[in-house]
Amino acid sequence: MRGEATAVAHANIALAKYWGKRPGPGNYPAVPSLSVTLAGLRTVTTVRFVDEGTGHRLVLDGKEELGPGATKAAALLDRVKAHAGIQGFAHVESRNEFPTAAGLASSASGFAAMAAAACAAAGITPGQPWISDLARRASASAARSLFGGFVELDAGPANAGDGEALLAARPLAPAEHLPLVILVCVTRRGPKDTASTEGMTLTARESPFYVAWVEEAPRLFTRMKDALAAKDLPTLGALAERSALAMHASAMAAGVVYLNGTSLEVLRRVQRLRHEGLSTFATMDAGPHVKVMVSLAEEQPVATALASVPGVLEVRRTVPGPAVTVTMGGAP
Ligand code: PMV
Repeated sequence: MRGEATAVAHANIALAKYWGKRPGPGNYPAVPSLSVTLAGLRTVTTVRFVDEGTGHRLVLDGKEELGPGATKAAALLDRVKAHAGIQGFAHVESRNEFPTAAGLASSASGFAAMAAAACAAAGITPGQPWISDLARRASASAARSLFGGFVELDAGPANAGDGEALLAARPLAPAEHLPLVILVCVTRRGPKDTASTEGMTLTARESPFYVAWVEEAPRLFTRMKDALAAKDLPTLGALAERSALAMHASAMAAGVVYLNGTSLEVLRRVQRLRHEGLSTFATMDAGPHVKVMVSLAEEQPVATALASVPGVLEVRRTVPGPAVTVTMGGAP
């Protein structure tokens, strides 16, 4: 039965980065990725299907969204309609419970919540792999936010064909598997960076290092999976930092620069803390903020050091978080 449903999903950060797409349709990643879902950084999304109107409506943090986000959302919602065999349009209302203005990634939690809520509102239960695949088509990292804890997403098929092959993320280990703190160093307020799709396209087209990245990423991914299975945070962290640096190096060679001066200062501080004997590691996504991993035992000195780096506006603390949840009805 059709109705209204609300989903709560959390942001995630990739430890083994996804950067680059397979050519052809379907939004398949060129490399595998491994992420951790983050508690606290929540998106709450309500979807309701209605019979009247002329199109889907997406309201994001109280404002009607009309840009590329709305186009991706419409494709997602049309796929749900087709699967459910229903007519009409969706009204989507989404709220990020973390500052999107700070440039903290919201597309992963946003599309994961939208995919889960849309299926429930349309009255279908296609299973988590189908919902993860649905979210991945809008934003590959969103496939991972369906699940809690540590999550993997394979690379897409070498030949994307008609783009219809299912590719879903899979949970690897629950949040409690590895006690870990992630300190998000906010290094800028204000407008968004180059969108990740545009950055990836430019990197693949212009960077002399893109081929090397696509070769190296699966090796880092495999080693990280082993380190995660062994609960070996120092190895996992070191490989995660390497993955982020390799991704950014390949992007930078194409002129795609996401880091700012403060990002580099945070990175240097993290490296210095390691020389002083602390086991702490950094990772950065398609933006200038730096996410720093550290064990619970060593959190305090690292948090204090990061807060004192000139240019760091805020240090937000987060830990591995839960899977998406869905309830019928509107947002509380
Ligand atoms: O899923 P997208 O299109 O938002 O791209 C995500 C890219 C990175 O955040 C940089 C890496 C990742 O695997 O999440």
